[in-house]
Amino acid sequence: MTNQGPATPTATPLVDMRDISIAFGGIRAVDGASIDLYPGEVVALLGHNGAGKSTLIKILSGAYKRDTGTIFVNGQEASISSPRDAKGYGIETIYQTLALADNVDAAANLFLGRELKTAWGTLDDVAMEAEARKVMGRLNPRFQRFKDPVSRLSGGQRQSVAIARAILFNARILIMDEPTAALGPQETAQVGELVKQLKADGIGIFLISHDIHDVFDLADRVCVMKNGQVVGTARTTDVTQDEVLGMIILGKCPPGAVPGPGAVRAAA
Ligand SMILES: Nc1ncnc2c1ncn2[C@@H]1O[C@H](COP(=O)(O)OP(=O)(O)O)[C@@H](O)[C@H]1O
Ligand SMILES: [Mg+2]
Repeated sequence: MTNQGPATPTATPLVDMRDISIAFGGIRAVDGASIDLYPGEVVALLGHNGAGKSTLIKILSGAYKRDTGTIFVNGQEASISSPRDAKGYGIETIYQTLALADNVDAAANLFLGRELKTAWGTLDDVAMEAEARKVMGRLNPRFQRFKDPVSRLSGGQRQSVAIARAILFNARILIMDEPTAALGPQETAQVGELVKQLKADGIGIFLISHDIHDVFDLADRVCVMKNGQVVGTARTTDVTQDEVLGMIILGKCPPGAVPGPGAVRAAA
């Protein structure tokens, strides 16, 4: 096997989703999909709108309950039926909307709902800002706007805050659904820097996108979905962007990829 698996073949995947299916009414939104993710790895989940990407990932984040299939986290079968369960396994999702409180600063957002208190039971703003500076210093050293409400921050800075929030609560597995969809080129580059930093820390990232150009350079592997099924999975070094486009559009699996159940059979 040259196309699949981790850089260190003996490593246990952070996440291994096997044979996952879910139907809404009569529609098989996800149909027998398998995908895995290793520490420090970025796996881009690609496919047209409606391919099933968000649904598959919502099963991992506990937002949807799968009909069938098994999820392993660090080699152990995981029981995930709520977002709380998923967080317990170190799985955090950065939603496109980022879910930030706009009128308060970065530190307040990092500790939203889990505020640090002083011995007197009041908010410990000093401790929270110190923690915020520590985690941001590691994630995005250029970030300095600790006193501003996050509504005044740029899209890329807001993304840093949302990711820092996840990291602060020990995320090992990060799901980013269309993270750069609303960002300009400079900000997209900034998200790329964040992703590299997270990788270096051994965090695994599922990066979801309908646009291959957004994610190809960041990803170690791509997994393409079509009509709820996995077309194939490939290392980005083993396939060209055109071949991946062929996977997305035609469901055609190139030689450098491992075919999934959704791959169309080549005509004989
Ligand atoms: N909550 C839901 N109820 C009914 N159908 C849904 C729901 N969520 C997703 N779907 C359907 O599942 C399919 C896959 O959608 P989705 O996972 O959002 O695709 P993607 O993220 O790849 O664009 C689509 O046909 C979509 O309409
Ligand atoms: Mg989606």
